[in-house]
Amino acid sequence: MSANADAVGLPMEALETPALCLDLDTYERNVERMVEYIVRRNGLGWRPHMKGQKAAPLALKAIAAGALGVTCATLYEAEAMAEAGVNSILIANQVVGEKKLARLARLVRRTPGVIAATDSLAHVRLVQDAAVTAGVEIGLLIEVNVGMNRCGIAPGEATVELAREITAAPGLRLDGLMGWEGHVLAFDDATKQTKIGEAMKALTSTAEACREAGIEIKIVSSSGSGTFRMAAPTEGITEVQAGGGVFSDLNYAKWGLDHDFALTILTRVVSRPTETRVVVDGGFKTMSVQHGLPQPLGLEVKGVLLSAEHGSLELSTPSRQPAVGDLVEFVPGYTDSTVCLHDEMCALRGGKLEAVWTIPGRTGHR
Ligand SMILES: Cc1ncc(COP(=O)(O)O)c(C=O)c1O
Repeated sequence: MSANADAVGLPMEALETPALCLDLDTYERNVERMVEYIVRRNGLGWRPHMKGQKAAPLALKAIAAGALGVTCATLYEAEAMAEAGVNSILIANQVVGEKKLARLARLVRRTPGVIAATDSLAHVRLVQDAAVTAGVEIGLLIEVNVGMNRCGIAPGEATVELAREITAAPGLRLDGLMGWEGHVLAFDDATKQTKIGEAMKALTSTAEACREAGIEIKIVSSSGSGTFRMAAPTEGITEVQAGGGVFSDLNYAKWGLDHDFALTILTRVVSRPTETRVVVDGGFKTMSVQHGLPQPLGLEVKGVLLSAEHGSLELSTPSRQPAVGDLVEFVPGYTDSTVCLHDEMCALRGGKLEAVWTIPGRTGHR
């Protein structure tokens, strides 16, 4: 049951709290900045990552604004995007397990523009079996380890060898390479630029090595919201995966992104035990603490403490405002880990509720 669907057309004050709110004007400005830089200025494809955005209408909006498709972290996210009408979807992750691989094959049959990542021959064989069993062709990107040391095969000859195996495998199609330079986010600008340069070189020179070996590489996909401004001008990249920048948050700002904050959490004051303490109806089950605490807008605070369903603020100066029942809006520390705490997102324009969107795939599978 939706908490706020009955408030469409009404002002923000009418919302039941806590509520995850998106300011559409700010979001659209952020999208336009990403399209302008990635697509128009650098001539690349934009395939925004939906792992933190989740709501399918946001994928359709980005595509209408100039994105070529989307990136997803999970099979379920990809299924939800396809269901909403998105035709081009990269699952930037290794899909494993018999049931999931059968689902991937079904998804590809229904939406042939779904492609997925792989980084080992063992995994390639599993995807191959699923494709052959279902009688479909599954397109793959090889995930190259560009320094993050999470998933990814080593750049250079190891990738070329895997590329050869994929091109020879029944039921599979090699579409290209991907690499995510997530290890550089927290560095100062100069170090970050150097490390991005190294990471992009590892990726693009591996693409070249594949081509020299006679293997076609159409897609070379990389980069996130905290890196795309430095990475996009790299020769040889064809697509950018940056997604969360459409919202921005305190964490992205720390990582150097200068977009406006489009996503907030709306809460109400439930208690004013002292002249400096304000307690709201949103705690850590509403606002993530991963990568930093949320901050209230328009209030000077000495501290924010989150328990399960209470957010406790210590005002810098004693005040009777805000009073019990008043609204307090927070900017999340990290939008990605906050969105998945909510069942729905309230989309507002000019302070009025325009739509309420379901957030699918919160847990990774359903
Ligand atoms: C594979 C991949 N690409 C790109 C990104 C960047 O996503 P965002 O721009 O939403 O921070 C991530 C983030 O974790 C990722 O895992």
